[in-house]
Amino acid sequence: MKYPKFTDGCHSLLCKFLTKEVFEELKDRKTSNGFTLSKAINSGVVNEDSGIGVYAGDEESYTLFAPLFDPIIKEYHGFGTDDMHVSNFDPKDLDISNPDPEGKFILSTRIRVGRNLADFPLGTIISKTQRDKVESLVSDTLKSLKGELKGSYYPLKGMSKDVKEILIKDHFLFKEGDRFLEAAGLNRDWPDGRGIYHNDDKTFLVWINEEDELRIISMQQGGDIKEVFTRLSKAVTLIEQKASFMKTKHLGYITSCPTNLGTAMRASVHIKLPILSRKMDIFEEIIKENHLQIRGIHGEHSQDESGIFDISNKRRLGINEVQCAYDLFNGVKKLIEKESSL
Ligand code: ADP
Ligand code: ARG
Repeated sequence: MKYPKFTDGCHSLLCKFLTKEVFEELKDRKTSNGFTLSKAINSGVVNEDSGIGVYAGDEESYTLFAPLFDPIIKEYHGFGTDDMHVSNFDPKDLDISNPDPEGKFILSTRIRVGRNLADFPLGTIISKTQRDKVESLVSDTLKSLKGELKGSYYPLKGMSKDVKEILIKDHFLFKEGDRFLEAAGLNRDWPDGRGIYHNDDKTFLVWINEEDELRIISMQQGGDIKEVFTRLSKAVTLIEQKASFMKTKHLGYITSCPTNLGTAMRASVHIKLPILSRKMDIFEEIIKENHLQIRGIHGEHSQDESGIFDISNKRRLGINEVQCAYDLFNGVKKLIEKESSL
């Protein structure tokens, strides 16, 4: 394996931190599951427009390839090698009201966490047999949920094109063919082993075997962040009573992308900001000051002209779940204040 050639236009954290020295140090290492440096960096090498550019294959990847992962984690989350991640998913500690009680700005709120099973490698190198096993274990566990969380599992294989398209358009289902995931090995054997569980109202959903083995999601119309958080906390607690997830004291929940480590939580709103979005410098300053991130409303890497944005917390590691929700709440309040004043 040769040191990859990055062009001058490459601004990913991979380009920044994969120096020739780090490359030489790591190039012949292999985790006990067979994950290598070449697999870790392929997505960022193939896709030079990556923001990050690396993925992990298992828990061991984060220690064996630490000279590459640690500076990326530090830059993205502001989390150092001596820091410890501590969780708090207790809704009682989230003392907030709806930041948009009249429903003038926020269309919908969604909070998701990523999880991976402790006894399997991550999706980047999982075998087809293992992935199918994850699907059956997780979908069986979900079948035991009751009340508001009760739902059904819909495998992707055999799902009609129309049903799939509607679920994607309505923001419930993951998209297909993401080139970043493709180059990371996460789309192998598609659509086998993938699917979506949801309740009738589609306020509680679980994606199986997309970027992470589970993405547990709570969502609803409007801006009631606390209600969405409370439902997710309850669901995750129940699922964790039956499943053992990959987790370390230092990094919290282990995910295939280092941006999701720790809480693995992305709390977002779809919000209308037609005036502020024409003043990009002010908009971006509020985003940055409040540790937020802007995405298009059709998921990551999407863009459109609607004046509606997906705003979410950026940090997920070294702060707890309640703080992730506060990052969203505090930032959204500022955005609404500014939009109203302009
Ligand atoms: P993820 O949140 O899983 O990292 P994406 O950014 O790709 O990944 O979003 C997944 C889906 O969730 C997309 O269809 C997106 O439109 C939808 N989504 C995200 N936030 C919201 C929200 N607040 N309201 C409605 N749909 C949302
Ligand atoms: N690998 C992609 C990049 O570096 C996505 C990174 C963050 N998003 C994610 N879904 N993990 O731009």
